[in-house]
Amino acid sequence: MTESEIPSLVSLCVDAVKSDLLRGDDDLLPILHELPPNLLDLLVSRLPPFALQKLHRAMPFDDREDEFSDECIGNGRKRGRSSRAGDFDKAWRNLFILRWPEIGRRIEVIEPPEWQQIYWETHLQNCLDEVAEVASLPSFDGCLGEVKISDSLLELIGCEGDMATSTSGYSKLRHHCVHFGYLARCLRLQNIFCNEEICHLLRNSKLQSLELRWIRSKEHITGVCKLLNQNSESLKTLEFIHCTLSSASITEICSSLSPKSLQAHGIKHFSINTTKFLETNPSSVPVELVSFLSSGRSLYSLKLSDNHLGQKFAKVLFSTLLNASSSLSILDLSENNISGWLSELSALSKSNTRTPLRVGKSLQSLRELNLRGNNLNKDDADDLRYALVHLPNLEVLDMSDNPIGDDGIRSLIPFLMEASEKCTRFVDLMLENCELSCHGVTELIKTLSSLSRPLKSLSIADNDLGSQVAGVLGEFLCTPIQVLNAGGIGLRSSGFQVLQEKLTKELKLVEIDISKNRGGIETANFLSKLMSEAPKLAIVNAAYNLMPVESLTAICSAIKNAKGTLQRMDLSGNTWDYQPVYDSMLADIQCNERLILILPSLTPDAPYDADP
Ligand SMILES: *[C@@H]1O[C@H](CO)[C@@H](O)[C@H](O)[C@H]1NC(C)=O
Ligand SMILES: *[C@@H]1O[C@H](CO)[C@@H](O)[C@H](O)[C@H]1NC(C)=O
Ligand SMILES: *[C@@H]1O[C@H](CO)[C@@H](O)[C@H](O)[C@H]1NC(C)=O
Repeated sequence: MTESEIPSLVSLCVDAVKSDLLRGDDDLLPILHELPPNLLDLLVSRLPPFALQKLHRAMPFDDREDEFSDECIGNGRKRGRSSRAGDFDKAWRNLFILRWPEIGRRIEVIEPPEWQQIYWETHLQNCLDEVAEVASLPSFDGCLGEVKISDSLLELIGCEGDMATSTSGYSKLRHHCVHFGYLARCLRLQNIFCNEEICHLLRNSKLQSLELRWIRSKEHITGVCKLLNQNSESLKTLEFIHCTLSSASITEICSSLSPKSLQAHGIKHFSINTTKFLETNPSSVPVELVSFLSSGRSLYSLKLSDNHLGQKFAKVLFSTLLNASSSLSILDLSENNISGWLSELSALSKSNTRTPLRVGKSLQSLRELNLRGNNLNKDDADDLRYALVHLPNLEVLDMSDNPIGDDGIRSLIPFLMEASEKCTRFVDLMLENCELSCHGVTELIKTLSSLSRPLKSLSIADNDLGSQVAGVLGEFLCTPIQVLNAGGIGLRSSGFQVLQEKLTKELKLVEIDISKNRGGIETANFLSKLMSEAPKLAIVNAAYNLMPVESLTAICSAIKNAKGTLQRMDLSGNTWDYQPVYDSMLADIQCNERLILILPSLTPDAPYDADP
């Protein structure tokens, strides 16, 4: 407030209440509850987070049970509460967006959260991250709870003056854990927090999701297990990143999650990422893990990415999963080195053609299999054919970054045909950077174009296919394909010309990537034809195509003529000299507020702003 402004009586009162609340005058709370609604609203909309929290927690409707039974929230119970709850929610939203604008807008789009909960959860994470920096120093030798939170973080929640001095309890991590911990559901903890103390500090939390980093020593594991045990009833998502784990520690982790032996764990998402397994016997880890995970029946996704898993580990894992009749939907084994992992399975299948399923049961529920970056070759692709028989409901297969080559593709073609005949749900195939040539991809696409149940999404990006592939690719665009990634396949101008000629009917296409194809002005001509033929087109990546600045004329008029479905067009990396004459053209298409247009060189990778 500037000096020349004369504060109103109301705002003086709000300020007085604010400082009383901050000072800890809780006698005030019952009086505040009786305020007329309009005054209470005003107060709620003006209080800083710390004071608002005090008021909110003390409100009669603030039944803490509700905070945890999230199934009920949003149904009758929430509506049944007074509309004051809505005023508080609005105030928390404003405070959140003010402090973390980007996160706020992102999560809001996905699903409007409970703003009070997410506010304090995010604040607590900020505090923990800050304390981690202090406590990671070799010289640190004290209690985590006693570490002081920085003034800047304290100021953000409205703790100033006396409250923020280092002697005041408010300024210590302990206070933030004890007072806001009950609202935290989802936290990221580094190894220094994995000890008895954090279990005590977070004793009010019912964590649903936990990400653990740099867990390496036996002490870390003991601390982690205690925390897992404490939260075993609420925990649904568990992720380890950059850790070193032995089979003994896996055993310990598993048993900490189902404390009462009769009661199965409730983990839905389990991930071990970029982690080293210390193991002499590679098969003991997956057996332990899988038998534990499948005991819960609620496991939905299992991600074991970038862990230097060898083929033995993967082989045992897969056959254990097959045998365990788990309800797994997503299996991610990407970025390991598992070439050869299916050779025994396929050998058994081949030698036993009459009863190919004898090797194991099946993974009926598996919908997504990610095998990206595993050094798989053509033989692995051939083996995979036999494994896929056991995955009757597979929808998504990612084989990218594996040198399977044209022969590998030829092995997968029978699977694709069979999947289509059997009316399975297979819809999405990713073959980026698989050392494919024009011949292999032409065969693949001809098969795909003839299927009775066509794919929805295909990626053949980063294979050196050349402009000769354009003919079949153009025909393929006329099938009901919705998402195509053909970035970096060497189409060049001539390829784009052929593509244009092949677009002869209305397309179902929603998303296309044709970046890095050196298409020049023909890229723009193709895009304008495409936009006129694909009424549902929403996302286009045409970056790095040596497009001249004149392309903008064609593109702008195509965007104008399109019916406004376009959401994002990336034209970056095309080195244009920005000319003011294009301003009006751009301003014209910028009326479509939903469109994010990414232009070259102005500010790379940032959305175009109408007044730069
Ligand atoms: C593994 O961690 C890396 C780095 O944090 C991340 O980019 C990647 O998406 C993670 N992978 C999985 C499967 O979660
Ligand atoms: C499959 O599971 C059964 C018990 O359900 C077990 O006896 C058998 O050894 C398992 N086989 C493999 C290959 O894991
Ligand atoms: C991948 O695994 C094979 C054995 O299966 C091994 O010979 C090779 O060195 C491994 N490569 C890497 C990069 O670890």
